[in-house]
Amino acid sequence: MYRSHTCGELRESDVNKKVILSGWVHKIRDKGFVAWVDLRDRYGITQLVFDEDRTSTKLLEQARTLGREFVVQVKGEVIERASKNPNIPTGNIEVLVEELTLLNSSKTPPFTIENETDGGEDLRMKYRYLDIRRNLVKDNLIFRSKVAMAVRKYLSEQGFIEVETPYLIKSTPEGARDFVVPSRMNEGQFYALPQSPQTFKQLLMVGGLDKYFQIVKCFRDEDLRADRQPEFTQIDCEMAFVEQEDILNAFEGLTTFLLKEIKGVEIDKFPRMTFDDAMKRYGNDKPDIRFGMEFGELNEVAQHKDFNVFNSAELVVGIAIPGGNSYTRKEIDKLTDWVKRPQIGAKGMVYVRCNEDGTFKSSVDKFYDQEDLAKWANVTGATAGDLICVLSGEAHKTRTQLSALRMELAERLGLRKPDEFAPLWVIDFPLLELDEETGNYHAMHHPFTSPKPGQLELLETDPGAVRANAYDLVLNGNEIGGGSIRIHDKEVQSVMFKHLGFTPEEAKAQFGFLIDAFQYGAPPHGGIAFGLDRLVAILGGQETIRDFIAFPKNNSGRDVMIDAPAPIDEAQLKELNLKVDIRS
Ligand code: AMO
Repeated sequence: MYRSHTCGELRESDVNKKVILSGWVHKIRDKGFVAWVDLRDRYGITQLVFDEDRTSTKLLEQARTLGREFVVQVKGEVIERASKNPNIPTGNIEVLVEELTLLNSSKTPPFTIENETDGGEDLRMKYRYLDIRRNLVKDNLIFRSKVAMAVRKYLSEQGFIEVETPYLIKSTPEGARDFVVPSRMNEGQFYALPQSPQTFKQLLMVGGLDKYFQIVKCFRDEDLRADRQPEFTQIDCEMAFVEQEDILNAFEGLTTFLLKEIKGVEIDKFPRMTFDDAMKRYGNDKPDIRFGMEFGELNEVAQHKDFNVFNSAELVVGIAIPGGNSYTRKEIDKLTDWVKRPQIGAKGMVYVRCNEDGTFKSSVDKFYDQEDLAKWANVTGATAGDLICVLSGEAHKTRTQLSALRMELAERLGLRKPDEFAPLWVIDFPLLELDEETGNYHAMHHPFTSPKPGQLELLETDPGAVRANAYDLVLNGNEIGGGSIRIHDKEVQSVMFKHLGFTPEEAKAQFGFLIDAFQYGAPPHGGIAFGLDRLVAILGGQETIRDFIAFPKNNSGRDVMIDAPAPIDEAQLKELNLKVDIRS
């Protein structure tokens, strides 16, 4: 037996017990006649004591040969500590060691296994297995497991069944690039790894399975960000004989359950907002509604004077920053520089100080009087002590820029509280999105999303105006999940493909199997997928999903620990009938 107890388990009530512990040497303190070793495992730390008087000199000598991260087993007796440590659960006791067995030695680790480590990100990624020994990473992984378990529990209790769908498939159109896998047995042909199980889950509905879910890996070759990994995990679901309302209720149920079970937070009913409203009020289709700072559109109250910048703009829009009047001129200049950075792209920023005495001082006082500025304050909801920041220009771009400023300021003001949860359904998404470069429309969600009832005809006349039965779940300003009611009619699906620029031949070649299946009694159906990594990170009060993935990729899509991707050897290339020709 390697252990009778874990290193996080022993308490004062265990005093006098003979125990066996195994773990890693976390720290050693040697006082000459006595040495203490902190022994660590997944569950905690227990202090071991090697004492010349109470045990033997030989044992003490043996303890002195240990180094950090050595793996040892000890047998001994639980005793009460003379000087207690209230900071750890085992802090009242220690184990007086009677026998020490070295199970494995260790090289000195390249960074300290502590909460505050001296190892940088790259080093920790290279030695991720050591990073996982640190509480922060370990706790995140345990937390993830707890969330995944709760998801399985809830969904299976609701009658969902988990079905595995294949990884070696054909392209699924979720809008990113595919990762492809060459087929040895089919020369010159490739599988694509699923960007999602979308088509398969729809086929499961045709198969009559009715309520499907899967916690499943998805693969997307796209630029990485804090909330994106090339392989990530979805809680993927589909239901038959449902309308949008049924799906929203079912997954509001799941989210409510998770918030309660995992965070002890009770949320009654999730608010809903249309896509158009979200864009208008927050400049963003995934607004963080934990705080206000809603947009105020100022065209009516700012385009009647000689200020040409505003007069020529499609949209003049502002937000009130709570307490922002305390910013110095220099700080406001810095904010202006911030919105002018290429990543944001604003041409400039107009500001209005809302003084405590009810007067206003603005950067455009030459053009606007106190009465004008009072109207701006009214529209943006600014009160005394606030600062109004105003941007102008083309509507969509300006909204996006002001949204970035809103989020940045909220972050700086500490308004994005990690322990506060504000879920929101964003509904009525546009069905299609115009690609400015090509002038073509593409599906905003994916090509299987159904238009809202009665809007099919609009596709011919005003495709951009068609709204979809599509919805996103937003949590604290992050898109946690997205889904839609699907097209289940072969004719409607063909019309959609046509509008998305597929010739009938192309549609048949890529999605013939789905169109075929629709001829055999496809039920009305719809579904949703949550990003598990994102959900876990946000429930954990963070936004970087990498910290909640055991072995993540870095920003260049590399696994620096196993050093992948990597070239493959000639023989393997030949077997796959591939030629690699890399020219500089
Ligand atoms: P969608 O593309 O919106 O929908 O993806 C669903 C959710 O998956 C998460 N997600 C990601 N998480 C981490 N890294 C990524 N690269 C990444 N990409 C997406 C997001 C997102 O909301 N088949 C549809 C679902 C459906 O219609 O049922 C789909 O995949 O949280």
